[in-house]
Amino acid sequence: MKLLYYSLLFCCLLTFSSCNVKSSGVSSPDENITVSFLLDNKGVFKYIIQYKQQKIIDTSAIGFELTNAKALKEGFMARVKKPVEVNETWQMPWGEQLNVVNNYNEVTVELEERDNLKRRVNVVFRVFNDGVGFRFEFPKQENLKEVLIKEENTEFNLTEDYKTFWIPGDWDIYEHLYSTTKLSEINAKSYIPKTNLAQSYIPENAVNTPVTLIGKDGLHLSFHEAALVDYSGMTLKVDTENLSFKSKLVGSRNIDYKVKRSVPFNTPWRTIQITDNAPDLITSKLIVNLNEPNKLGDVSWFKPMKYTGVWWEMHLGKSSWDYGMELVNGKWKDTGKAHGNHGATTENVKRFIDFSAKNNIGGVLVEGWNTGWERWIGFEDREGVFDFITPYPDYDLDEVTAYAKEKGVEIIMHHETSAATQTYEKQQDKAYALMKKYGMHAVKSGYVGKILPKGEYHHGQYMVNQYNNAAIKAAKYQVAVNAHEPIKATGLRRTYPNIISREGLRGQEFNAWSADGGNPPEHLPIVAFTRMLAGPIDFTPGIFNIKFNEYKKENQVNTTLAQQLALYVVIYSPIQMAADLVEHYEANPKPLQFIKDVGVEWLETKVLNGEVGDFVTIARKEKGTENWFIGSITDENKRDIDIDFSFLDDNTTYESIIYKDGKNAHWNNNPLDIIIEKKLIRNSDKLKFKLAEGGGLAISLKKKI
Ligand code: NOJ
Ligand code: CA
Repeated sequence: MKLLYYSLLFCCLLTFSSCNVKSSGVSSPDENITVSFLLDNKGVFKYIIQYKQQKIIDTSAIGFELTNAKALKEGFMARVKKPVEVNETWQMPWGEQLNVVNNYNEVTVELEERDNLKRRVNVVFRVFNDGVGFRFEFPKQENLKEVLIKEENTEFNLTEDYKTFWIPGDWDIYEHLYSTTKLSEINAKSYIPKTNLAQSYIPENAVNTPVTLIGKDGLHLSFHEAALVDYSGMTLKVDTENLSFKSKLVGSRNIDYKVKRSVPFNTPWRTIQITDNAPDLITSKLIVNLNEPNKLGDVSWFKPMKYTGVWWEMHLGKSSWDYGMELVNGKWKDTGKAHGNHGATTENVKRFIDFSAKNNIGGVLVEGWNTGWERWIGFEDREGVFDFITPYPDYDLDEVTAYAKEKGVEIIMHHETSAATQTYEKQQDKAYALMKKYGMHAVKSGYVGKILPKGEYHHGQYMVNQYNNAAIKAAKYQVAVNAHEPIKATGLRRTYPNIISREGLRGQEFNAWSADGGNPPEHLPIVAFTRMLAGPIDFTPGIFNIKFNEYKKENQVNTTLAQQLALYVVIYSPIQMAADLVEHYEANPKPLQFIKDVGVEWLETKVLNGEVGDFVTIARKEKGTENWFIGSITDENKRDIDIDFSFLDDNTTYESIIYKDGKNAHWNNNPLDIIIEKKLIRNSDKLKFKLAEGGGLAISLKKKI
């Protein structure tokens, strides 16, 4: 076994000898990826990553600058611990698949300063067949009790000018359109004048992760992090001249460090997914594998579901979140002067419940049900504004939840915190207890706006802890969380499966109102290979009334109708919204059939083809029924897609319904042109499909009995 080639220099390292350059390394189980490491003559720890003998990360240093002590970056001695090989399979309670193989070789390098402080830090590498994760462990020690990290300077020195799919390293939001440029042409600051987001801070030429790179010979890399716990989010500062990334942590304006931790502790994993092609990036399970196993135990109280909701109608301007209370003698009161345009009324919600019950949709999200919305907009001091317990007078929680129960539907709670973290924290116990009382098991939370306390950013350590603690607390009340304006997903759903989904990208809502033309057709073919590598996305697909001229002449969804259906398979989430208005679905029963049929719980996922930013085709097998569903989407270019159905079960005939772009379909000129046909399909079939510009394809395949 070539697990390691460390033996030659092992003794040198082990005995802390004074030889100048010491090197060692570890390979992936299939031996394609090798990480080697060394100490240079200043005692700086450096690593190199090779894939199939090609250097992909050239000699790169690590090191920490501290606010409360001397930097921890040089003068090290090193000891390499005996490597271990792990090969296990674990099961996801819900996910893209049931069984996940976790197979890697791990080696720990113990670094110790040679000077009299003798501070220690370990670097742990896990090398998988699909990439590398490494983290820093600060063990218990005499001369380091608490670290105030000013900066973590982990280098990733690249070896070519990759084609890069990136969003800026914004400390406050990920809701940007992706850019596709050479690494040497990344200019994150070019986003600053264009942002009209509720909050945005782009301090330097850095990118957020996942950031995906393609090399000239087809190598695919994606940089991210795993298990982000009690630490700051990492952006990657770009050196366009030397073609390298360096970790830059998100900070705070209130303190002169970026992370504060008591020793012992571990940092998040720094991850690099490494594949020969784009589809393998999506099937890689490296990020979840680097997280700890389920700490919640039985989570069967949450069931993956499709949901509708009082949501799109507010984004279209058909109704409003607020009810129309007025300020009387310094207190917000129901004066009976409701403006009459409130969306979350008992009656309206019942309409969604009826529709959902009829169409195999398990949940109804209700936004704008609670007091506070009037006082949100324009208030700089948002603390104390939202109330997560008190419904508006026209929303009867008892009646709505009883009605939903009778119909077999669950109400999904909504907590828009307005980023006023203390108000939310104070009310969490009561708010989750209220949910438990009503049998609600999922909450969508929101963090729009600048963080309160002022000076904090959405992706800094303070907020990382806010998001994680909210989810951990929610679990105690059997509540699952879908955060918007969240911290990025880093695979924590393995440890806390009640972290079901999140936003953390430019979602469908931008198509309803953004002044810059919404999400262009290439958006989701990029997202599938970038943001989606991090974890489930609450994108809210399924808009049938693509142009919605009745509400907004200037806005539209920039895909065909067939693509809106395909998204239920392409985008993974254990909660998938059927986002359009009830009346728009009722007017289109034929395409609605796909939403009715499509699964949300998967046994298996196969990425049949794809290129980053161009197109992707994904097939998923439903848990329980073993039916298959296929989704394929393309960017602004039309294309032919070949589907080889050999993944279907042997000796089985499937009754399929195919939803494909019509002959004249086009995301802008003719988005509603769709052909829906039935066909018997077996695993010997190979079929060609035409995807229109901005188009898509959705297929349901049920076993014929
Ligand atoms: C932004 C969220 O992304 C959106 O889904 C929600 O409707 C609004 N905030 C209001 O909370
Ligand atoms: Ca948002």
